Amino acid sequence: MTVPTITLNDGATIPQLGFGTWQVADDVAERSVSTALQTGYRHIDTAAIYGNEKGVGRAIAASGVPRDELFVTTKLWNDKHLKDDARQALETSLTKLGLDHVDLYLIHWPSTKHPGQFVEAWDAMQTFKYEGLVRSIGVSNFNQEHLDALNGATPAINQIEMHPTFAQPAYRESLLKQGIRPEAWSPLGMSKDLANPVITAIATELGRTPAQVIIRWHLQLGTVVIPKSVTPERIASNFDVFDFQLSPEQMAQINGLDAGARLGGDPLEV
Ligand SMILES: NC(=O)c1ccc[n+]([C@@H]2O[C@H](COP(=O)([O-])OP(=O)(O)OC[C@H]3O[C@@H](n4cnc5c(N)ncnc54)[C@H](OP(=O)(O)O)[C@@H]3O)[C@@H](O)[C@H]2O)c1
Repeated sequence: MTVPTITLNDGATIPQLGFGTWQVADDVAERSVSTALQTGYRHIDTAAIYGNEKGVGRAIAASGVPRDELFVTTKLWNDKHLKDDARQALETSLTKLGLDHVDLYLIHWPSTKHPGQFVEAWDAMQTFKYEGLVRSIGVSNFNQEHLDALNGATPAINQIEMHPTFAQPAYRESLLKQGIRPEAWSPLGMSKDLANPVITAIATELGRTPAQVIIRWHLQLGTVVIPKSVTPERIASNFDVFDFQLSPEQMAQINGLDAGARLGGDPLEV
């Protein structure tokens, strides 16, 4: 199964389908990431705050997958935005992961509790990229006003909440125009969108699972997508999405589900 790659604004490529690990304890992350790597996923999304970088690292080390075939993302937490803290945080993440670089390092949130400090974090991230500690740099949960405050390089990625009932079509388009690739977190709507009758009807029509239908929708929109599961059968079926297509009508039906139904934190509040 070949996962399409997307070329980012810095020339690096990212596998469009990756694997999420939020709310997964360290030992469970080790098992689920091992299953994901055996299934064929080569793009893993973690974060310092998830507390599972060691488990992810153990799974990577045990997998035997060559490092240059893997794409590993981790994220800088909110209280580490000042440059010395950011460097220490990255070094800690690399040690836990057992890696000498990550493929993508993201500022996790702009963080209202540390106003404006993300600007300093962004300067630090650019230094880390220059030093080779990270291959690509990006942001997560940034609104346009946060993006506008950054100096220097344009983020390669903005990882934001996106799923059929919270699709952010205008912002998604605007990011693409700015050369910033949108990446969907909670792409299945934390499983809530799977029961939507439009999704289940399309799934029945195609003889596919609701999760496969939603993952296809993200892929066909050009979004990077990182569904999470700790269930081996779901890890496998969520990856089995490259031998069918949604029709333009089915895409339009799913686009019609957008209801502004945010499930996670609002960037202006977290
Ligand atoms: N940057 C950020 O601020 C941010 C925020 C949230 C998430 N993320 C990232 O995005 C990833 C994905 O988001 P998420 O974990 O919030 O939610 P999600 O991927 O939208 O949904 C995960 C939920 O769906 C279930 N599921 C997965 N595949 C399924 C299937 N085929 N059939 C039925 N249920 C299925 C999972 O259950 P089981 O696990 O029990 O199988 C889990 O309960 C995270 O893991 C994390 O890496 C980033």
